Amino acid sequence: MNFNGLSEKNAVYFEDCISKINTAIDNYRDSLYAQCGKQKNVAEAMYYSLSAGGKRIRPVLTMEFCRICGGNDALSAALAVEMIHTFSLIHDDLPCMDDDDFRRGKPSCHRAFGETTALLAGDALENAAFNIIVNLEYSDKVKCSLIKELSYETGVLGMIGGQVIDTEYSGQMDEALLLDMYRMKTGALLKAACKMGCICAYAGLEKLLAADTYAENLGLAFQIIDDILDIEGSSEELGKPSGSDAANGKVTYASLNGISKSREYAQILTDNALAALNAFDDTDFLREFTMYLLDRNK
Ligand code: IPE
Ligand code: IPE
Ligand code: MG
Ligand code: MG
Ligand code: MG
Repeated sequence: MNFNGLSEKNAVYFEDCISKINTAIDNYRDSLYAQCGKQKNVAEAMYYSLSAGGKRIRPVLTMEFCRICGGNDALSAALAVEMIHTFSLIHDDLPCMDDDDFRRGKPSCHRAFGETTALLAGDALENAAFNIIVNLEYSDKVKCSLIKELSYETGVLGMIGGQVIDTEYSGQMDEALLLDMYRMKTGALLKAACKMGCICAYAGLEKLLAADTYAENLGLAFQIIDDILDIEGSSEELGKPSGSDAANGKVTYASLNGISKSREYAQILTDNALAALNAFDDTDFLREFTMYLLDRNK
């Protein structure tokens, strides 16, 4: 695979992380299918969207923050984060939201399975994420911290709140509201991903705060680049329809400020994110990965 900007060593490492996540997804499917009866179509829709080839950015962040905080395993927490993300994408594509027909290079979940099953698959992925955490082998205290983090950042004060502003306030969007919306709809789950990695490694407050700052900046940069790719990228490469924002009349950072100012701001945010990594050791992969996300073309 081509991860422009990653050294060969880090590209191999990234691929290895992705393959661990894909194996965890397949194992989850095997166990779920074995227990399903008449509801199996929803389980198939969950797996269809989960396995459809996302970039796996959030679970990689969970695993990597765990590693740089001295922990040794956050794969299940990472899977939970990817489930929440996939749920958000399934719902984001529904006709009542962005009404997009392609996702991760395949027909979106509701195009493949129908709206009812897609809606339920999204709901089920959300619940599955928390169920996975509850069943982890960590202490109750760690599990509670993971659930507190993920439920807060996913909820109405986080990701879902951002989707509310995105879908209901487009007509009155100024830059301040737009950036708040990005912080919530995209930054919040990235925050949960990074901080859950730290929590799995029993990291202290200083590292949690640094992870928070890293993810806050990364989240804004990530959404600004996503919006630029919606204008400049190709549907084939993105695996989702380009031009969706314009078709839906969405105001974005790029539509307000132009592409070159948007890229400049995304660079500043990326620099801020990199500076936050100074609180950690052994950040070579994470630094390159952060820059790769700025220059990505999908
Ligand atoms: C898409 O996220 C939704 C946004 C927050 C912009 P990704 O670009 O990480 O999507 P996948 O996981 O690679 O499909
Ligand atoms: C999606 O933002 C944010 C969430 C799914 C929470 P977008 O609507 O811009 O994401 P894409 O472009 O469809 O992936
Ligand atoms: Mg959307
Ligand atoms: Mg969308
Ligand atoms: Mg988008």
